[in-house]
Amino acid sequence: MSDRHTTESHSGQSFETLAIHSGNTADPLTGAVVPPIYQVSTYKQDGVGGLRGGYEYSRSANPTRTALEENLAALEGGRRGLAFASGLAAEDCLLRTLLTPGDHVVIPNDAYGGTFRLFAKVVSRWGIDFSVADTSDPASVRAALTDRTKLIWVETPSNPLLGITDIAALAAVARTAGVRLVVDNTFASPYLQQPLALGADIVVHSTTKYMGGHSDVVGGALVVSDAELGEELAYHQNAMGAVAGPFDAWLVLRGIKTLAVRMDRHSENAARIVDMLSSHARVTRIHYPGLPEHPGHETAAKQMKAFGGMVSFQVAGGEEAAVAVCDRAKLFTLGESLGGVESLIEHPGRMTHASVAGSALEVPADLIRLSVGIESADDLLADLRQALG
Ligand SMILES: Cc1ncc(COP(=O)(O)O)c(C=O)c1O
Repeated sequence: MSDRHTTESHSGQSFETLAIHSGNTADPLTGAVVPPIYQVSTYKQDGVGGLRGGYEYSRSANPTRTALEENLAALEGGRRGLAFASGLAAEDCLLRTLLTPGDHVVIPNDAYGGTFRLFAKVVSRWGIDFSVADTSDPASVRAALTDRTKLIWVETPSNPLLGITDIAALAAVARTAGVRLVVDNTFASPYLQQPLALGADIVVHSTTKYMGGHSDVVGGALVVSDAELGEELAYHQNAMGAVAGPFDAWLVLRGIKTLAVRMDRHSENAARIVDMLSSHARVTRIHYPGLPEHPGHETAAKQMKAFGGMVSFQVAGGEEAAVAVCDRAKLFTLGESLGGVESLIEHPGRMTHASVAGSALEVPADLIRLSVGIESADDLLADLRQALG
């Protein structure tokens, strides 16, 4: 790969500017201000090996995907961004690039169910084992390390319990142990939190969520600061092949342009909803890092710009009561996923986190998860009040 794929400088521009301009250079042929969707698999060569612009085959590189990858690197303050067909494809590529049989990984006690399934049911079959730790407590992570540990994996805020991990503190643990720190930044997005600047080695995204932002694309990303590691991952991205297609890359690039304004509104609306839930008689517990009583509140306030749009809460009456609230919601659409402009509600135990049942990551049966959208907060509050009954 050429240096074209490595973001060298961020020229001191603010996040909002980078989100709109990084990677989004005007089309050299027409001047189109939005990068075209290069819906193409192969490229004409001017004689054998004579590539125009470095492109030979779209699994290896595609100009629309390059635009997104440059943008991702700039937003996370990294040197290399890589775009994949899904968040899990990005995770799979990362794990199979960095790990070999006999290696060990420390994973969090709260995480997306599909990530846990990847470790427990897929990667483990190739001789890679893992220990579960409370990543909000550096001592718990230190205790889980072995002489075979290669990676510490963190989600912060975590899915679905909104646990907070101090990224800088865990980066210090990882550095001392000589292992790499991976941070899944899906819930926060780079607008709210930049793990590489806090010492993480690798950032993972499901770009399906806030980055895409409109529930119309599935995608994933890896971003790293170390150019050599970026090169190694890019080699495996091409060798394994689960790349983002041109249209999907274009949709994510388009979504990112409004990320900053969307995240501000998501965060404001979530705070208003938490305010209402806090005094609701049927709500027994709220998981939201913006609450002063949340154990990770101070850390979140330190490492995040705002507390984001995800809220989980538990209700009186157990599992059936929680399911009934989800079923009664109207404006909050009952569905998996998160991070889109429209508000979603779900029951993690039976939906997104069914695959962690019976494991150390099992979620409370009376838990409801909200992805608070950017509709009118008043309308969202009215819907939730009627759903709670
Ligand atoms: C925190 C987190 N990481 C990773 C993923 C996996 O991403 P994808 O569904 O795009 O494969 C998800 C999906 O919900 C997620 O919530």
